[in-house]
Amino acid sequence: MLTTALRLVLGHQLKPFVFEKSIDFLPNFDVPNLGAYVHIPFCETLCPFCPYYKVQYESSLISRYIDALLDEITLVSERSFSGKREITSVYFGGGSPALAGDHLERITTRLKKYYCIAGNMGIELHPRDISMETIGNVKNADFDMVSLGVQSFSPELLRILGRTDEDTVAPLKTLSAESFEAIDVDLIFGIPTQTAEILKSDFLTAVENGATQISTYPFIDFSYADNKNKPLNGKEKKVLLDALLEVADKAGFERTSVWTFAGKDTPRYSSITRDNFIGFGSSATSLGLGDFKTNVFSVGEYIKSVKSGKVPTAHRMDFNTRTRGLYWLFWNSYNGDISAEAYSDLFGRSLTKDFGTSLLLGRTLGLLKTDGNIWRLTAKGIYAFHIVEQIYTHQYIDKTWGIAMNDPWIDRILLY
Ligand SMILES: C[S@@+](CC[C@H](N)C(=O)[O-])C[C@H]1O[C@@H](n2cnc3c(N)ncnc32)[C@H](O)[C@@H]1O
Ligand code: SF4
Repeated sequence: MLTTALRLVLGHQLKPFVFEKSIDFLPNFDVPNLGAYVHIPFCETLCPFCPYYKVQYESSLISRYIDALLDEITLVSERSFSGKREITSVYFGGGSPALAGDHLERITTRLKKYYCIAGNMGIELHPRDISMETIGNVKNADFDMVSLGVQSFSPELLRILGRTDEDTVAPLKTLSAESFEAIDVDLIFGIPTQTAEILKSDFLTAVENGATQISTYPFIDFSYADNKNKPLNGKEKKVLLDALLEVADKAGFERTSVWTFAGKDTPRYSSITRDNFIGFGSSATSLGLGDFKTNVFSVGEYIKSVKSGKVPTAHRMDFNTRTRGLYWLFWNSYNGDISAEAYSDLFGRSLTKDFGTSLLLGRTLGLLKTDGNIWRLTAKGIYAFHIVEQIYTHQYIDKTWGIAMNDPWIDRILLY
């Protein structure tokens, strides 16, 4: 299996990676480049394809959840830091964070009590959320970047995905009339019957209506999702990925990671690639000095845990120096550039000493090329990463999230 081979070769680890139950656990956040993530796990309707942890919106439940979230921010921040701590960015995801309404401002105000926010503040929005009231809430809470989950502008493809609302262009136009620093549009590729022409036309529709960045995710059939229609196969997805590169070029957009494209000189919006992060909310993850941890995947258990004065961590995974480096290597490869200088700034170690043999092998295989101190993914390398990341998603994310949703306090989860 590929993940086992990479664990042995790159991770130098014989045993599987293990998530151990660790109630009330907090990593050491005395680390550089810390970003914050807040998870709001409520949706008006639950899309059958979506793997994220979320529950049906209910006004009394979300109120109790937000109270617990504010308490968690206080609990974790007061235990972790003595003064105000600088963070590089804030990102709200879900679920549909806009369902928190005017409480968004209460949450960001609480964050600002403990953190100086040096960078951008981003939030995920569903097209259905977009109204002047939501935009007011988003602005009052000081978000300056938004990501709109369009998936496709084709009503037929949305129906195949299992989405019922089809109003996608008007919400994007409404957002682009506002002064956000970045407007990301999420598209999914590999939807049954989707052709290169439809995908290219979706990309251009996003650009023409104000998107500054387009994230294009390959459709993945999670084992616990309820997809009536299965994704296209690998070959068909490759045709679509090639079409994306072609249309991005035509639109003057640059590839900014394996699955994202952005207008030239526009600020980058990213939900995932941070050196370190502190996560709040049910199912949120955190990465500190030597540990990766997940909060409990259950709104009810999350509220109970915080109300009893405990940090709502359910599981932690030990990240030794090698695993830490490997995690960094994975996400920097996703971004396309692996900088030896950034690695030594962050870890005080040499990238070539730690991963030199693997990087040279990557260059021999035509997956990487060097540009001074930077290792860059070639077109072949980007395609290989596209394949590897989907395999990891199935082997690691699907497995962990599926188990954690089913049995939130399970003793351990093994990843091979
Ligand atoms: C947390 S989700 C959605 C945020 C927002 N609630 C919405 O619906 O627009 C973030 C993105 O993940 C992507 N996504 C969700 N399920 C997926 C799947 N099964 N395969 C590939 N991408 C998926 C979608 O593009 C989605 O916009
Ligand atoms: S895609 Fe968005 S709206 Fe649909 S279930 Fe997932 S988080 Fe909720």
